[in-house]
Amino acid sequence: MSVSPPLAGVRAVVFDAYGTLFDVMAPTARLAGRLGPDAGTLGAIWRQKQLEYAWLRSLMGHYTDFWSVTGEALDFAMADLGLDDPDLRGTLLDLYFSLDAYPEVAEALDQLRSAGLVTAILSNGSPDMLGAAVDHAGLAPLLDRTLSVHPAGVFKPDPRTYRVAVDALGLPAEAIGFVSSNGWDVAGAAAFGFRVVWLNRFGKTQERLPAGPAAVIDDLSGLPALVTA
Ligand code: LAC
Repeated sequence: MSVSPPLAGVRAVVFDAYGTLFDVMAPTARLAGRLGPDAGTLGAIWRQKQLEYAWLRSLMGHYTDFWSVTGEALDFAMADLGLDDPDLRGTLLDLYFSLDAYPEVAEALDQLRSAGLVTAILSNGSPDMLGAAVDHAGLAPLLDRTLSVHPAGVFKPDPRTYRVAVDALGLPAEAIGFVSSNGWDVAGAAAFGFRVVWLNRFGKTQERLPAGPAAVIDDLSGLPALVTA
């Protein structure tokens, strides 16, 4: 007796953007020559503060767009490392609009669409950030929708953000597969009711949160087999 794939029956697959489709460490990696030994630490502090500020602003009821949050997080990271360099700040932020997509992304999206599935992004990213990243990576022809949480006025993992995808796609949560490399986003999406795959690119430990993934993969090449019979 054949066993159905973990996401059998989904009609759409929705992806987190940063760290899932796009390499958020690319800006500091590209400037490693200029940054020297601080490059990795700056990138890590910047990303962590970007997430922390998004969570805290949601909890405080002080939402602002993710581009502002990204700039504020970089300001903290640079100050924390004693870097006072407005030109460097501008260059790092500019690079955020041209992040590299991970190498297997386009093929995975193409296979999903060839199997008749709707493909979309659902991200904290502001519409401008996401549009620029999708265009730069050449992914626009492979995505039916690029959705920002911005209309919800709150950041993931608030349930109102995942509802943005339900409303935009006109599908119930249980018909939507969701893929993220961020364990906290996986928990939020699963708690909301999506069928979730954790893309554990970085070999992280699973979060101890109220809900979890239906499957775990380490890159997107394994995703189509989880969705299509
Ligand atoms: C996003 C971040 C949280 O794309 O990865 O929403």
